[in-house]
Order: sequence, then structure tokens, then C-alpha cells
Amino acid sequence: NEIRITVEAHPNIALIKYWGKKSETEMTPLNDSISLAIDIFHAKTTLTARRVEEGEESVDTVSINGREITLNTRFNRVFKSVRDRLDSSWSFSISSSTNFPVAAGLASSAAGFAAIAFALGKAFDLSQTDIERLARYGSGSASRSGLPGLVQWKKGDEKEESSVLSHFPSSHWPDLRLVILVVKDEEKSISSKEGMERTARTSELLQDRIRRNPARIQGIIDSFASRDFSTLAELTMRDSNEFHAVCLDSYPPIQYLNTTSWSIINLVHSFNKESVRAAYTFDAGPNACIFTLKEYMDEFVSLVHSSFSIGDSIEKELRSVHISTLGDGPKVVE
Ligand code: DP6
Repeated sequence: NEIRITVEAHPNIALIKYWGKKSETEMTPLNDSISLAIDIFHAKTTLTARRVEEGEESVDTVSINGREITLNTRFNRVFKSVRDRLDSSWSFSISSSTNFPVAAGLASSAAGFAAIAFALGKAFDLSQTDIERLARYGSGSASRSGLPGLVQWKKGDEKEESSVLSHFPSSHWPDLRLVILVVKDEEKSISSKEGMERTARTSELLQDRIRRNPARIQGIIDSFASRDFSTLAELTMRDSNEFHAVCLDSYPPIQYLNTTSWSIINLVHSFNKESVRAAYTFDAGPNACIFTLKEYMDEFVSLVHSSFSIGDSIEKELRSVHISTLGDGPKVVE
């Protein structure tokens, strides 16, 4: 009558980004995206499922980092979708904590919903397709945190449901490193959900971006396969730049990068003067995720330390620097 399970899932960072939905109810994207999981960070989530007696109402609760939150439509959609699959009534209680700074703006929802979907899947023996759908119902990018290594989220079409696919486990490229630069950010920027809606509704450049997407995805898969860093790096930087360009092309325009983000962009390009040794990518916020190789990492990190002031106080440009290898999919811990 009670099932309890604890799982962990990593956040992911997209090399080719998801931006724009085909359907908000089905949470399907306008373009494919492809990402890598960040090994040092995770969401740890305990699911307690209780069988509900006849006549009793099921009440779900969610607490994140010790705080109970009000369930929004996304949580309700995830829980309803599981209930529809089960033959008896259950209530769900989720307790989740993350080991990364909230300020890292690392789509904590991706790791969080991936963990919830995985825990529900394990508890009720759901199929991989059901787990992917649950994660996606929580947050689009969460579906990519359900699998190891280099993960593609396919947009799907009338014939085939949107799905995720892992091309390589993290062990395929052990020397690849991620450096996460948490940038000081005072302004609350517009959420991904709202930003995507605005871009899909108003940007003309978005059509161009969607047209280029299949070739870019293939370029990432091929360069990852052959561990061709400079091609992977250029595609990643171009896609990040293009994503922020369609944000600026939205009306009214959306700005996620600040002056520190731009300094990081310029720093990476000067670091790459002789040969391409690092790549940046920015999500819907000013923080940078840098890809580099093990052999260049120390030099890059010292350059960051000599170029920026780092710390918690308000006048610092960067709040923190985190180094990681690539991560794999979710796992059961208890
Ligand atoms: C810029 O997955 O957070 O990080 O599906 O509305 O929850 P919802 O959006 P979300 O968007 C992520 C956008 C992005 C790019 C990416 O991760 O692909």
C-alpha cells in the first residue's frame, strides 16, 4: 500500500537548443535538440506513493529543497498522466533536493522532472515511452535528462510521438569537460515558457533556425562520434548565438545575456585564436556553460580567474565556477 523510492537525475545542457513549442498541451517542440548531462550536479528525489482507499480523495504534495510548493498545471499534468495508467488510486508525495546553486539557472526543472518521471516509472513499472512523456509533461528539456551521454530529443510528427534517444554514453569522450560559470544576475528575466511563446508568435528568423536544425543536429552527432572538438565547438557556439538572435528578433525583444556573458563570449574567442579549444553556450539566462578538453582546462580556468572577480558579494561579476565531466542517465539510490 506504500511504495517509496529515491532516485537521482542530472541536469543537462543543450548544444543545439529547444526553443518553441508545437503544442503546449503535448509539450512537443518545434525543433530537435541535443544535449549532454552534467555529472557533478543532480536532483535527488524521493517519491512516496500511497494507495488511496475508496471514497478518499488523493492529495499530492511536492517539496523542493525543504519547501512545500503549490502544485502548478505541470505537476498536475504529470500526476494525472500516471493515474490514468494505473488501475487503482494512488496519491504521490515528492521530496526533492538539488546539489547545485539555484542561481546556476541550470534548468533545475529538467533534473527535477526527469527524477520524478524516472521514480514513477520504476515504482509502477512504466515503459520508457511513458517515462519520457511524463518528464516532457513536466518540462521539455527534462526528457533529455532521462538518458545517458549525448541525448537527442526528436520533435516527432503525426506518425511518430516525440521521443528521446541516446547516441553515445558519457564514456565515449572521457576528456570532454564542462565549466559552468554562474554569472551575477540581478534582473529576473522572462521564463523559458513565456519566451518560447513570444518567439514562436513573433519571430520571423525562427523559421530559418528551424530549417537549419536537422543539419546542425547531424553535425553534432558526427563530430561527437569522431571526437572532433573544433567542429563540435563551432556548431555549439553558433547555435547558442542563433538562439539568442531569435530571442532578440522576438517582439518585444527578449534579452538573456548581460555584459558579463558578452565578456565570456569574447574571452572564449580570444582563447581560440590559434586553435579552437573551448566553446560557450548560454540558456535562457546569463550563465555560461563552457565545453573544453581536459588538456586545456587548467589554462582556461586560470584565464577566467584572472579576467573576472569571483565571489558571493554583489560587486563580483561571477558568483561561482564549477567543473564537471559528462553525466549519464538517472539511477535508483534507495
Ligand atoms: C533555453 O525545458 O525549461 O534551456 O518545456 O517550457 O519547461 P519548458 O522549457 P524548458 O526550456 C529549455 C530552454 C533552453 C534550451 C534547452 O535546454 O534546450
